[in-house]
Amino acid sequence: MIFRQLFESITCTYTYLLGSRPGGEALIIDPVLEKTDRYIQLLAELNLTLVKAIDTHVHADHITALGALRDETHCVTVMGKKSDVDVVSMRVDEGDTIEIEGIRLDVLYTPGHTSDSYSFAMPDRVFTGDALFIRGTGRTDFQHGDNADAYDSLFNKLLVLPDETLVYPGHDYKGDTVSTIAEERRFNPRLQVATAEAYAGIMDNLGLPDPKLMDVVVPANMKMGMRQEDAEIAERSLNPGDAQKRLDSGGTIFVDLRESGERQKTGIIAGSVHVPYQQLSEFIKPGGALAALAGQGDTPILLYCAYGERSALALKTMRVAGFKNIRHLAGGIDAWINSSAPLEAPAAD
Ligand SMILES: [Fe+2]
Repeated sequence: MIFRQLFESITCTYTYLLGSRPGGEALIIDPVLEKTDRYIQLLAELNLTLVKAIDTHVHADHITALGALRDETHCVTVMGKKSDVDVVSMRVDEGDTIEIEGIRLDVLYTPGHTSDSYSFAMPDRVFTGDALFIRGTGRTDFQHGDNADAYDSLFNKLLVLPDETLVYPGHDYKGDTVSTIAEERRFNPRLQVATAEAYAGIMDNLGLPDPKLMDVVVPANMKMGMRQEDAEIAERSLNPGDAQKRLDSGGTIFVDLRESGERQKTGIIAGSVHVPYQQLSEFIKPGGALAALAGQGDTPILLYCAYGERSALALKTMRVAGFKNIRHLAGGIDAWINSSAPLEAPAAD
């Protein structure tokens, strides 16, 4: 596996880059905006294609690079269900998995530092964001932080992982880089407590100042969605009502860009064709399945995904590739469901 632990020194943030092979797909966890150029360069140097950019939670100390990386690489942006951000491509929750070629992260919901904190586990390691640090834990005094939730996440989600699991945190302010679950259970001074009340007693008396840029950074991180006022996208967006009319009148190919797991969990629009976003280029190249379906490029196509971000990116890619009659569903399946439009269960992929 290709694994890089990258450090941003102003806010002491760790960012993780993972890939399974040179020439293959990569994902990045908790990227920092100011380091975007560095990530792009490193991806090129390691011959990796970034396909997913993930944040463990809405950060209060730095601006995320999720939006910038999406704009540069067309990667899928991923956050947890509980994150109050305007647009990400994909949302995950406890029990879901985040997959790329050769790598699979199991999603653990670990609130407490914030109400939207998630950890991501692999068989040998866990990325804990700000839930668990090396010999420390994330503060619980803003962004709907909660001591009882934190205690539960630490003791019932993270410390129950196998002893030898490597712990890769979202920050370290002392220069440590990695630990293990057994080490933290034994030596982390905040974890030497027997009850949630005792843990709260420690956390309530930390007396920490707020992060310097919190008032700027949190709002920025909540608004990282793609600029949908982009003229090409705006004029080719359909709302759920118009999409429903197209479905009823027939003749439009509905294309679902989501992954199989999302389709199984949420359902699909009747009769739609499945083209996973990550394989779009295969489907639209000359001779590809979608290119064949679209004929001379005049057959109407309606792209949709979970929230309208992947479909907007795909729309731009397909326009460049010569597809003429394409629209996308603004707001994705989420908006479709909110308008009470019907779904059906997909056939097994
Ligand atoms: Fe944080």
